[in-house]
Amino acid sequence: MVSDSRIEPIVGRKSFAAVAINSASKAGEWIKTKLGGFTSLNIKSSPGDLVTEVDKGAETMIRNLIMTHFPDHSFLGEEGVEPGPEASSAALRDVMDAEYLWIVDPIDGTTNFVHGFPFFCVSIALACKGEVILGVVYDPSRDELFIAEKGKGAYVHGKRMRVSPDAVLRESLVATGFPPYGGAALPLNMRQLLAVVPKVRNVRSNGSAALHLAYVAAGRLSAFWEVGLNAWDMAAGYLLIQESGGRVTDMKGEPYHLGVRNVVATNGHIHDELLQVLQSAESEGEPGTGTPFKHGE
Ligand code: IPD
Repeated sequence: MVSDSRIEPIVGRKSFAAVAINSASKAGEWIKTKLGGFTSLNIKSSPGDLVTEVDKGAETMIRNLIMTHFPDHSFLGEEGVEPGPEASSAALRDVMDAEYLWIVDPIDGTTNFVHGFPFFCVSIALACKGEVILGVVYDPSRDELFIAEKGKGAYVHGKRMRVSPDAVLRESLVATGFPPYGGAALPLNMRQLLAVVPKVRNVRSNGSAALHLAYVAAGRLSAFWEVGLNAWDMAAGYLLIQESGGRVTDMKGEPYHLGVRNVVATNGHIHDELLQVLQSAESEGEPGTGTPFKHGE
């Protein structure tokens, strides 16, 4: 057989985006077949923090697919990290400066998956030296794939996404989520809700941060905020919003980076107004009701 060193192996020629799309859709299709059919349910840090064999299997599948093409790349997946915010932050610190880092949540919205509530997704991001350059969110229940590449726009069903035009909070539909770590953030969550609900058209909380972020990018939601999230919940969704013309910051208004845990993501137009309401809710806290979540992280 003639060997030609100019011919690269076929796997080596696949683009980052092709591998991310393939991995997300393959895993998503498999996850969908397991809806209502998982066999092992384990509690992680609290009864609201769950993992099934499907989360673990999907992560293994995604990791294997990515590593087949890019064996030198680093990988950070939710199921490879011990539960709890400290372990998550430490795991991220270990890899965040890698040249190429894949950041994966195999099922974002595990609680929904467990209950058969069809709002969960596969989230895959690729960061280059800490900067997110690719984001894919796949919703197997609706067969919707959201993708963004840095500088190349964001798309769903092959159609360019744009954030919503809503200019003021009172005409906005916003979403939030409740972190599962034993309710430590509950007092802050409640103050935020009390402050935001009267100011907006309405609030939703559907239990998948990554999918909520994709919906902000697609203009279906005007904004999303949540405290206590991890890089795998947000990295892909961040780029979807950035490439759709929106804005993503921490709760102080500092630009998003991989270490952010408390996120405010909007269409840009209502960002400052929402930040102001959330910040006022935080400063109204009574002594002793504060949360362990530090802003600006
Ligand atoms: C969770 C979801 C949920 C959010 C939690 C996350 P997981 O991710 O994004 O919406 O409120 O904070 O942990 O555990 O289902 O991958």
